[in-house]
Amino acid sequence: MDEYHLSILTYRQTEFEDLPVTPLMYMIHEEKAEKAHNFFFMRLNELIPELKAAETMIVATENDEAIVSAVQKYIPHVTMFRNWQHALQDINKILQNLEITDCQEVKEYESDFIRLLDQESCESTDASEKEICVGSVVANHYNQLSERGVAERKESRIFHMRNLNNWIKSRIIGNILDRIRRENGPHCRLNVLDLGCGKGGDLLKWERGHVHHVVCADIAETSIEQCKERYAKLKHRSRQVFSAEFIAADCSKENIMDKMENCELKLDLVSCQFAFHYSFESLPQAEQMLANVSCNLQPGGYFIGTTTDAYDIMRRLGRDENPENRKFGNSIFSVEFPAETLLDPPPLFGAKYNFHLEEVVDCPEFLVHFPTFEKLASKYGLTLVQKTRFEDFVPQEMERGKDLLMRMKALEAYPPFANQELVSQDDSDYLHAKEYLDSCSAAEGFRLKIGTLSKAEWEAVYQNHQECGCWKNCVHLVPADVLAVA
Ligand SMILES: C[S@@+](CC[C@H](N)C(=O)[O-])C[C@H]1O[C@@H](n2cnc3c(N)ncnc32)[C@H](O)[C@@H]1O
Repeated sequence: MDEYHLSILTYRQTEFEDLPVTPLMYMIHEEKAEKAHNFFFMRLNELIPELKAAETMIVATENDEAIVSAVQKYIPHVTMFRNWQHALQDINKILQNLEITDCQEVKEYESDFIRLLDQESCESTDASEKEICVGSVVANHYNQLSERGVAERKESRIFHMRNLNNWIKSRIIGNILDRIRRENGPHCRLNVLDLGCGKGGDLLKWERGHVHHVVCADIAETSIEQCKERYAKLKHRSRQVFSAEFIAADCSKENIMDKMENCELKLDLVSCQFAFHYSFESLPQAEQMLANVSCNLQPGGYFIGTTTDAYDIMRRLGRDENPENRKFGNSIFSVEFPAETLLDPPPLFGAKYNFHLEEVVDCPEFLVHFPTFEKLASKYGLTLVQKTRFEDFVPQEMERGKDLLMRMKALEAYPPFANQELVSQDDSDYLHAKEYLDSCSAAEGFRLKIGTLSKAEWEAVYQNHQECGCWKNCVHLVPADVLAVA
């Protein structure tokens, strides 16, 4: 039957499932044309006129336009269902078009589809979708992160890197609070929204910045509980501390103003540290996040944040050198794009990768295409005031922030002090520091100690949370270079 097509219509009595399936009509045709299908259903109509009166008849067919329109024309009263095997074939064609041919992966798509078909109700479908949605994966991940004590944190392989990130945030927050006070007077009241506040890593910064009220919001309920506990301890220590409220909500899907104690509270500052990228799962989510930023922000208020740099991540992936590349990283971090993420080019939203950072992060994130972010932010009344890469921000802030940097142990001393060990035992992690010192010693005739990070940590800081930005009614975002701290 090389050149011909065979269409078969079978009849199945679904009330009595054990009755046999009856073949009703065959058609052998040269073309899969509308004409042929019209003829087929016209003849069906003539041969079985009772069909017209059958009220509970269902025709299950493929989604071919010619067949659908022929059925609608000649037996319009029947309900049409799509045949699941044909839907599965269509899914396979779409996957081929997307060049997704890996057997294991194709099977995963097929089994997801069949799993959906097997759901008994909408509720169960919703429940299972919720189970696999990225938000709940992210929330579960952060909920399960245990709080580490100071002693344990000191033992961490990324102790200094985490301190550096913290120092960067302190500088961003300190700078913006200074700026607001310069603009609005030294005693102005300051209300802040900490979007994606986590366990309250910035509570101390708000205290030191003498703000008046902080709304802490995060998707992870356990983190919010821990944030509340930290705040209670802070309040116990100092009566002067700001007032605070705590909201557990997906800020990329819910309007958090509705959950605030005073939904009309005017905010002077919104801060979103290392969290905005989660909302780039989809356009509506990024928009909801921005709606939460701008909704109660005072005219002239500021939005600051730190997030990832899509361009840098794509450059580090190095697909120009090897189009198969989907992963990069080192001994402490990795960025890996799953096979379902299109990469050439990646989509503006939903460009998912799995980010792993030793001891602290292991969950999906999304590329943030900064020009898109900027455009979207302007739709919400936000104008970009400043955008700085970490590698530029750190040296820029070094002079004024050096004391704090030293107190926070944001860099590791090299060579180490007599009673200390370096965080990495791998000598190649400090070649950059050794070379720098050798050049200084030669020039200056004596041996310095410098502040630096191991190479693996620098790479993690550079490659991931690279931008800090500041927006007026508006993002603060910053990676680094080898720093010599005398
Ligand atoms: C890397 S942590 C940063 C926490 C905190 N901002 C800090 O700098 O210490 C990212 C935080 O974003 C939160 N997050 C992720 N997606 C979110 C969403 N859709 N709504 C609210 N919070 C979210 C996570 O639960 C997590 O606490």
